[in-house]
Amino acid sequence: MLNKKIAVLVSGGGTNLQALIDAEKRGELGSGKITCVISSKADAYALERAKNAGIKTKTLIRKDFADIASYSVAMRDILLEEEADLVVYAGFMTILDENVCDAFKNKMINVHPALIPSFCGKGFYGLHVHEAALQKGVKVSGATVHFVTAECDAGPIILQKAVEVKEGDTPETLQRRIMEQAEWKILPLAVRLFCDEKIKVENGVTVITE
Ligand code: GAR
Repeated sequence: MLNKKIAVLVSGGGTNLQALIDAEKRGELGSGKITCVISSKADAYALERAKNAGIKTKTLIRKDFADIASYSVAMRDILLEEEADLVVYAGFMTILDENVCDAFKNKMINVHPALIPSFCGKGFYGLHVHEAALQKGVKVSGATVHFVTAECDAGPIILQKAVEVKEGDTPETLQRRIMEQAEWKILPLAVRLFCDEKIKVENGVTVITE
């Protein structure tokens, strides 16, 4: 199987990127190889993690563009130039439009820190997701890896993992537990399944053949 080039999109701390880098080092991304990390923010610590791992970095700052359409076109052009076979949103906080989603249909995946369809969609990102989960009083939350479509957090679900909510949790403690027990595991696993061509989408639902 030919190597698959993976472009990872980031905006922040990059712990999910680190989980992917570490998985690749352990040989756990199948035929996948992270070839480029693109940040929407100049000061994202994720860029340091990429540089430390010897991975090419680019920045595409949202504020440098008038609107989401022009930003999306610029992102699409970079991804095409990079010949990305797979695009991974790893804590990427900008919603890209159909200019990207159509060009990379069923080739972009996102990790979301809740069990979709709970606590997802516009406005549900980062700690806000965990604040909403605690406010609702759910006893179980978790993470979801799904294909990206132009509708936020609505694409076909690939993997999910549930995580217990504990008495006295704060958004920060719940976020950390969900990262450790779910996100850092199911994101590399979904990437491996994609790169090894084990994921099919049929009628808007994924079928995993493993
Ligand atoms: C992660 O919890 C990720 O699931 C979430 O932001 C955090 C980024 O952390 N993403 C979203 O909320 C996207 N809607 P990281 O930069 O350390 O990977």
